[in-house]
Amino acid sequence: MTLATPTLETDRLRLRPFTEADADDIFALQSDADVLRYWDSPPWTDRSSVARFMARCRQFAEDGSGARVVIEQARDHTFLGWCTFNDWNPVFRSASLGYCLRAAAWGRGYATEAAGALLGWAFETLDLNRVQAEADTRNAASARVLEKLGFVREGTLREDCIVNGDVSDSWVYGLLRRDWTG
Ligand SMILES: CC(C)(COP(=O)(O)OP(=O)(O)OC[C@H]1O[C@@H](n2cnc3c(N)ncnc32)[C@H](O)[C@@H]1OP(=O)(O)O)[C@@H](O)C(=O)NCCC(=O)NCCS
Repeated sequence: MTLATPTLETDRLRLRPFTEADADDIFALQSDADVLRYWDSPPWTDRSSVARFMARCRQFAEDGSGARVVIEQARDHTFLGWCTFNDWNPVFRSASLGYCLRAAAWGRGYATEAAGALLGWAFETLDLNRVQAEADTRNAASARVLEKLGFVREGTLREDCIVNGDVSDSWVYGLLRRDWTG
């Protein structure tokens, strides 16, 4: 079953489906080594990654497994980053959350505002019970975003990722429908 990627408005942000016109912005973001410091794969070096990323956005919508949206400034449509709700499993009624923002946009509450809007849409649209997110144990900003959204830290995945030989642990967080306050 398909799942139409939503366009959502918050006080300061607009979340919308990706288009081909976002190619340069997404390449710049995903090839920034500082932004990708705690990511589970290395920064992009090859433009072919853009096409794979865009194909995956379309696949989420076509097979109904999730929604990946651009986060842009509401007032002038400046590209800030993206947020994803994916791995939607209608049997378990569970899914995953992720986000990535340009460094220039950090520290203003944008990730929390954007992820909150996407979660609100998901809880309203789907019979969703649980959302899971993982964060590198060094990524205090991401952990804080999840805690502000009501996620509970449930455990540690030891030596979960190895990126360019760098071994790291991940925290696993969960948010249940009954704990979602919107
Ligand atoms: C993680 C990320 C999404 C946060 O985005 P953001 O828009 O700055 O997040 P917000 O402003 O909504 O919230 C960040 C919170 O973390 C806190 N924070 C930031 N850096 C911190 C640090 N080093 N230690 C502790 N807290 C920190 C901020 O103070 C804020 O909390 P507060 O509102 O209580 O003050 C952003 O840094 C990012 O895109 N990083 C690169 C990609 C990434 O790591 N994605 C997550 C993968 S799991």
